[in-house]
Amino acid sequence: MNLYETIFARRSVRQYDKTPLDAAALTEIKNHVDGAKQILGQSARFEIADSDKLKGGFAPHAILAFSEDSDAALVNVGCTLQGMDLWLQSSGYGSIWCGMAAPKDAAGDYRILLGFGKTSVPLRTVESEFKRKKISDISNEDNAVARAARLAPSAVNFQPWKLTFAAGKVTAASNVRGVGRILPGRLYLIDLGIVLKHVVIALEHEGKTVTAIDAAGAGKDSAIEVSYE
Ligand SMILES: Cc1cc2nc3c(=O)[nH]c(=O)nc-3n(C[C@H](O)[C@H](O)[C@H](O)COP(=O)(O)O)c2cc1C
Repeated sequence: MNLYETIFARRSVRQYDKTPLDAAALTEIKNHVDGAKQILGQSARFEIADSDKLKGGFAPHAILAFSEDSDAALVNVGCTLQGMDLWLQSSGYGSIWCGMAAPKDAAGDYRILLGFGKTSVPLRTVESEFKRKKISDISNEDNAVARAARLAPSAVNFQPWKLTFAAGKVTAASNVRGVGRILPGRLYLIDLGIVLKHVVIALEHEGKTVTAIDAAGAGKDSAIEVSYE
């Protein structure tokens, strides 16, 4: 299953086989995240930790993300780790974003973690298993890219984003309402990065080449532009 197909099958996995992965599997995962393409100009750092080093969480292992504290850096963390969420699930592992969990000795630049491990919880088989807003609530157009974006995971499933399609450009804007505004850690920016990853993967699946991602204006009321040709 490729990453595009995984968008339509992934889920947050909360039940794991407690047997840890072997060192070779963990090294492969670490190499994959270290080699992941980040948004131009961004340089998040990733570490793998076992659950005994964490407070909370569901999974036997986690990828911890560290970055500077700018809006664009948080979007980049969301975008890069969502590539890992999809890759892990396409590789037969379970995974889950976890804002509630954290390393016991969190450094100041710690941002979020993605738990992962072996699981017998199956992937989703039909799109109706996803609980999501209607396309018209999150996009000005109903098209293949918007349909893939709609399935992006988000903290508390708030889906705090709105897509606008124009010629050669998709804009993803934060749409943070009500209780979403009080979530800690500016998780809406990580959510924005996550939906951006789905947009990029779907554009590439459509045969487009993404030429630029402008995350400089990422903030509560601003937007990220993805240009493609
Ligand atoms: C940034 C972020 C943080 C999350 N934190 C938690 C968490 O702390 N605990 C939890 O059970 N789920 C957490 N989730 C999972 C969401 O609840 C889940 O993605 C959403 O309900 C959609 O479900 P799905 O991923 O199964 O499609 C988080 C998701 C994201 C994107």
